[in-house]
Amino acid sequence: MRGNDIIIRTAVYRDLEDIFRIELESFKIPYPKKYLAALLALAGDLFLVAETQEGIVGYAVGILRLNHIGHIVSIAVTKRWRRKGIGTRLIRELERRFKERNMKASRLEVRVSNKPAIKLYEKLGYKVVDRIENYYPDGEDAYLMFKEL
Ligand code: ACO
Ligand code: ZN
Repeated sequence: MRGNDIIIRTAVYRDLEDIFRIELESFKIPYPKKYLAALLALAGDLFLVAETQEGIVGYAVGILRLNHIGHIVSIAVTKRWRRKGIGTRLIRELERRFKERNMKASRLEVRVSNKPAIKLYEKLGYKVVDRIENYYPDGEDAYLMFKEL
């Protein structure tokens, strides 16, 4: 890899430490490493990482749900690499893989206070369709956001 290249690729098990480091840096209540390991095993090629010459700088994971809906479970980009379009690329690639699996829509939940993430999702065509009270362990509400693919 050279220069400013950023590639999006399927995550593998040896990426787990890097993914967990980004998780700790990015979330108030991070997923436990064991949970991320389970997602790695479960999500197959719907677990993506963004890699630069510095190593892994972002990840996104999706799962397939009933009724042809893809679910974006989590996405994070390391602080130094935010606002460079990596989150956008991760979501676009997940959506592409959802479509390959015949998914008709994509959904996710986000903290109502998470302005950067909500902005990103709105920019990509997601709309708030519901507010889920008390969704997070600390009591914060979530917006349920939805996009037809
Ligand atoms: N303030 C305002 N708008 C923002 C911000 C911000 N801090 N960050 C992104 N946006 C919007 C902008 O419109 C931006 O376009 P622009 O830079 O041309 O103005 C657009 O989103 C695209 O931004 P990207 O560069 O593609 O996004 P980035 O790579 O920075 O990743 C992310 C965004 C993943 C939300 C990052 O901020 C992050 O890791 N945050 C901490 C973890 C997190 O909150 N993850 C989402 C939780 S919800 C879930 O996982 C389902
Ligand atoms: Zn969710």
